[in-house]
Amino acid sequence: MSSSPRCAPYAEPFTKFAAWLAEAKVAKGEMWPNAMTLATSSALGLPNARIVLMQRHEIGRIAWYTNYNSQKGRELAENPRAAAVFYWNKLQRQCRMMGTVSVATAEESDAVWAVRKRNSKLLSIASDQSERLDSPDILKERIEVLKQQMPDLKDDEIPRPSHCGLHWLHPNSIEFWSEPLRPPRTTASSSTPPLPAAVDGVSAAPGVVSVAPPSVEDPLQLVTREVYTLNTLDPQAPCWDVSTIFP
Ligand SMILES: Cc1cc2nc3c(=O)[nH]c(=O)nc-3n(C[C@H](O)[C@H](O)[C@H](O)COP(=O)(O)O)c2cc1C
Repeated sequence: MSSSPRCAPYAEPFTKFAAWLAEAKVAKGEMWPNAMTLATSSALGLPNARIVLMQRHEIGRIAWYTNYNSQKGRELAENPRAAAVFYWNKLQRQCRMMGTVSVATAEESDAVWAVRKRNSKLLSIASDQSERLDSPDILKERIEVLKQQMPDLKDDEIPRPSHCGLHWLHPNSIEFWSEPLRPPRTTASSSTPPLPAAVDGVSAAPGVVSVAPPSVEDPLQLVTREVYTLNTLDPQAPCWDVSTIFP
């Protein structure tokens, strides 16, 4: 079932995103509510995805910190488009954004660099992300060399390497997916012995994904999916919101 498109203010999906993020953090105590799956693809269209931590969000864009020479950095240089997916397990919500990517200004990246801890800064300078290392000792040695090179530098004086910084995602589509919170699952009794090392109903046996059956009552769960289509060229323009509800 789908409702007619609704004309919404441009800021609405970003305000809603901020509210969901705050709820995941404060009300539900998610450890990393800002963790997101970042999907990129090469110029040839080969997909790739990994987790990064969102560092900034504002109306019109979200940002994460990374190494521009990493695989994702190279993919974004070739093909500056990405998708981000946040999943808040305790809220049973997902937020998905798709759009174009740009490199942040030096000032924007410096502001995020400034609040990083000393070791995190040194690691960032020493590590070529996505690079294969034969041993962790290589990284430790590089960090030792750095410490000797800058013994007197205070934390806030350690310079940000130019190949590390923020990327911005400017979404042209934002989806909010939510399911009503339900009580914890109860596992129906079964005569079949559990597969080895089952954790929370999910088996660890290779090749098999065995999820615990739903609760005995198995109530109908209505999922709401709200999709906003944005005009990234004109932040003053309203966006369109389509809500869909399906079981
Ligand atoms: C919880 C978590 C947070 C992470 N945060 C970041 C991050 O903010 N930035 C980043 O570049 N990599 C982060 N990573 C590492 C990436 O997932 C990935 O392994 C790394 O960036 C190399 O990816 P690439 O080879 O696709 O460039 C994080 C991993 C985890 C599990």
